[in-house]
Amino acid sequence: MRTEISKRNMDINGKVAIVTGGSRGIGESIAKALAEHGAKVVVASRKLEGLEGVASAIREAGGEATPITCHAGHEDEINALVDKTVQTYGQVDILINNAATNPYFGPLMKVEFPAWDKTFEVNTKGYFMTARAVIKHLQKREAPGSIVNVASIAGMGAAAFQGVYGMSKAAVISMTQTLAAELGGSGIRVNAIAPGLVETKFAGALLQNEAAVKRMENGSPVRRIGQPDDIAGLALFLASDASNFITGQTIVADGGSRGR
Ligand SMILES: NC(=O)c1ccc[n+]([C@@H]2O[C@H](COP(=O)([O-])OP(=O)(O)OC[C@H]3O[C@@H](n4cnc5c(N)ncnc54)[C@H](OP(=O)(O)O)[C@@H]3O)[C@@H](O)[C@H]2O)c1
Repeated sequence: MRTEISKRNMDINGKVAIVTGGSRGIGESIAKALAEHGAKVVVASRKLEGLEGVASAIREAGGEATPITCHAGHEDEINALVDKTVQTYGQVDILINNAATNPYFGPLMKVEFPAWDKTFEVNTKGYFMTARAVIKHLQKREAPGSIVNVASIAGMGAAAFQGVYGMSKAAVISMTQTLAAELGGSGIRVNAIAPGLVETKFAGALLQNEAAVKRMENGSPVRRIGQPDDIAGLALFLASDASNFITGQTIVADGGSRGR
């Protein structure tokens, strides 16, 4: 038993992974990390251009990647994404649910419902629809798998001026726990990552406020905000057999700010 456990590592050679929101930011870093550790990676998002850039970079580095366009809130496109991945690589073993949106930044009391609906459509229902499509495929193969949902610390407490986004991510954390409880017996693990502030296009509104960024840096135990690569190692760990005994968890990656 001991020998068997000690053999487990972060090698995901031969596994096939889908990374949604894989054209830039955190998704790009995760896709590259998974490819570097041996996975064949499908990067998905709405626009082909960014995806092609990431897939080419992975191939140039000796990895294997395919770009596939997919709106993360549209079930027909999500099902087609999973089908095309299976046609291309024969299977799916790992899903990184990462594509998300945050169209409204402001007080919760002033939110308008089109923005509310869009947020939940992509961030919550989209994550579920993508997870369900991959889980159905894994169940058909009677294969184990790992699903990693990129949530946010905004889903773990008050999220001033990002209330709807925070609620959509809190729902992702709840979904992670429920899917893990329901699927653990079949070897399908489901975990979440809760990043703090990471320097990407997504965080543009927050990053514009230089004084607020300085305050966050000074208040952080590591004295900086996050970079996309800070999240990639954790995603790789959760995707790989190194985390075989971990499911239903939400792991915070924020430089220690939250627990302070
Ligand atoms: N940055 C942060 O501070 C931070 C903190 C906590 C959590 N997060 C989470 O981290 C994840 C990645 O965010 P990021 O910061 O890396 O953002 P980013 O750099 O803006 O990347 C977002 C990615 O999602 C794709 N995307 C957006 N809307 C989509 C849709 N409707 N359908 C399909 N793809 C879509 C984008 O590509 P296209 O435009 O081509 O669709 C892009 O690939 C998100 O789940 C976010 O909530 C970020």
